[in-house]
Amino acid sequence: MNENDFIFKSSKLVSGSSSWESPSNIALIKYWGKYKNQLPKNPSISFTLSKSKTITKVRFRPKKKDDINNYSFLFNNSTKQSFHKKIDNFFYEVEKYIPSAKHHFFEIESENTFPHSSGIASSASSMSSLALCLMDFEKKSNPKISKSFFLKKASFLARLGSGSACRSIQGPVVSWGQSEFYKNSSQLFGTPLKKIDKVFKSYQDSILIIDKQEKKVSSSLGHKLMESNPYAENRFFQANKNIDTIKNILETGDVKNFIKIVESEALSLHAMMMISSPSFILMKPNTLSVIDKVIKFRNNGSVPVCYTLDAGSNIHLLYPKKYINKIQTFITNELLEFCQSDEFIHDEVGIGAIII
Ligand code: DP6
Repeated sequence: MNENDFIFKSSKLVSGSSSWESPSNIALIKYWGKYKNQLPKNPSISFTLSKSKTITKVRFRPKKKDDINNYSFLFNNSTKQSFHKKIDNFFYEVEKYIPSAKHHFFEIESENTFPHSSGIASSASSMSSLALCLMDFEKKSNPKISKSFFLKKASFLARLGSGSACRSIQGPVVSWGQSEFYKNSSQLFGTPLKKIDKVFKSYQDSILIIDKQEKKVSSSLGHKLMESNPYAENRFFQANKNIDTIKNILETGDVKNFIKIVESEALSLHAMMMISSPSFILMKPNTLSVIDKVIKFRNNGSVPVCYTLDAGSNIHLLYPKKYINKIQTFITNELLEFCQSDEFIHDEVGIGAIII
């Protein structure tokens, strides 16, 4: 499929509403480096989460003469000017693929199930839920659209808002980016993996909030820094290799090798930031203390828990469901002291967005 396959032209004026809740996702193989309109420099793969979600409601109607803008936006019932640039850009891109959106007004209301100031990136869940609502808008004038095309185009549109958002539409494990190892993989949208061992379908993700502040380096800046990073090509090569290796791991339930690859990916992402110019250290001392404890806990016992990181200081602990009690005790006894306000979020792998 190419970009033109996603253009839907219609001159119909429609009214209606739509509500979707869509989860966040945690990358196992990281997307870091992009070109053009959010096309990834390397393929990535993620677990779709289930509890950390954004709920978005959109009401749409034909635009009136006195509508200056073509949308209004409320986040947790309040205006949120800081989100407008991202939404403006998003609509600019969306109108290329649903041109009739230009002639409509969209009233958008959004809220997250996780605290906004938890340092957890919400762009994946918010952009994917908004993209799904816009697909319901398209569906009003295009009622015969198939379910599979609906989801593909929702992922395609979500990507235009935030790259990683294209992996949040479906679950439990989604790849994004062309790879010879994954049939049906595409640069343009996320594709759920068909064959996943059952252990990974119920994997747990305990998110330890090390620092609640908003990220000091935006992902967009991080991606941009890869353009001048002297190790960029090696990193893209490594990610492609890891995408190949993790396929078999996910299919066979090879938890031991899962740990190796996932932790190496997290550290590689942070290494890229340390070596960029300007350089950034995104971990906090408490991030390292937790990593140290996790490795010792794993080596001393028989719990196959591993960590991964986003482009920030918070830690995601990933482990099979049967260890949930042991990990909860470990977190309470040994890790909470490193979390800001003793905060953590208990999440798990999920199936993707749902209509409400
Ligand atoms: C470290 O998707 O947030 O979480 O496309 O600029 O919106 P934009 O970036 P974004 O980058 C995510 C980076 C990451 C790794 C990942 O999720 O793959």
